[in-house]
Amino acid sequence: MTTVPTFSPESLERFQQDGYLILKDFLSVKECQEFINQAANLVKEFDPKESSTIFSTTVDNTEARDAYFLHSGDKIRFFWEKDVFHSNGSLRVPKEKGINKIGHALHDLDPVFSRLSRLPQIKTLLQALKWIDPLIVQSMYIFKQPERGGEVVWHQDQTYLETSPGTILGLWMALEDATIENGCLWAIPGEHQAGLKKRFVRQNLKTSTEVLDDSPWDEGKKISLEVPQGSVILLHGLLPHKSEENLSAKSRQAYTLHFMERTWQFSPQNWLQRDPQFPFTGF
Ligand code: FE2
Repeated sequence: MTTVPTFSPESLERFQQDGYLILKDFLSVKECQEFINQAANLVKEFDPKESSTIFSTTVDNTEARDAYFLHSGDKIRFFWEKDVFHSNGSLRVPKEKGINKIGHALHDLDPVFSRLSRLPQIKTLLQALKWIDPLIVQSMYIFKQPERGGEVVWHQDQTYLETSPGTILGLWMALEDATIENGCLWAIPGEHQAGLKKRFVRQNLKTSTEVLDDSPWDEGKKISLEVPQGSVILLHGLLPHKSEENLSAKSRQAYTLHFMERTWQFSPQNWLQRDPQFPFTGF
């Protein structure tokens, strides 16, 4: 049986207190490489023309862009970094250097990602956290490209993936070393206890943000979560976190999964919705 390194009852307590927990050596170098290779395979097969017209900037394609995103919950779709297209829609950079992320149903639709999303140590970790029947609601492969990987501003994952009565759980797996230079995560420990600040809601193809609490987070308490390759960072759904842009020469690839219990409600107002024929799956 796979063990979860350094996991203990004290770790669980720390996670509840801080809203995050780092476990090193969660993935082997070989497993990290399997993720990286399969993402590279998907990018190789991907035809940029599939979405270049809606992401290039000649016309205002906001609606088409929103639809591409909003329909990605049960698909494998590719999202671009900003400013990677010429005005005629051709790429300024090789496609493998221009993709920001792949989402959001890799774990169900790609056989390799399906297996890697259900590695024994992931299951063991969730059991150690006392989860009963976890469902994977979303997967993302994030490239954080060298010299252009975009910033992700402070947010709570529960804003985008609202569940009840429990809170969404994120697993952020470092497939490469994550440092301040290449855009590691930052978090504000303990601020998950202040509750949900915003809710990103969807009605058909229109989205909006409801502000529930406009008081600011205590950014002075922010800390960087620099981690070596193979680490996992557990993220409480209410923990504010962000990552800065990557202007270094090194990529910072990561794979994330978000979980809810099967018995919980997944808000029908969440942007991510799946066809009833294609429900969330677990282990
Ligand atoms: Fe996040």
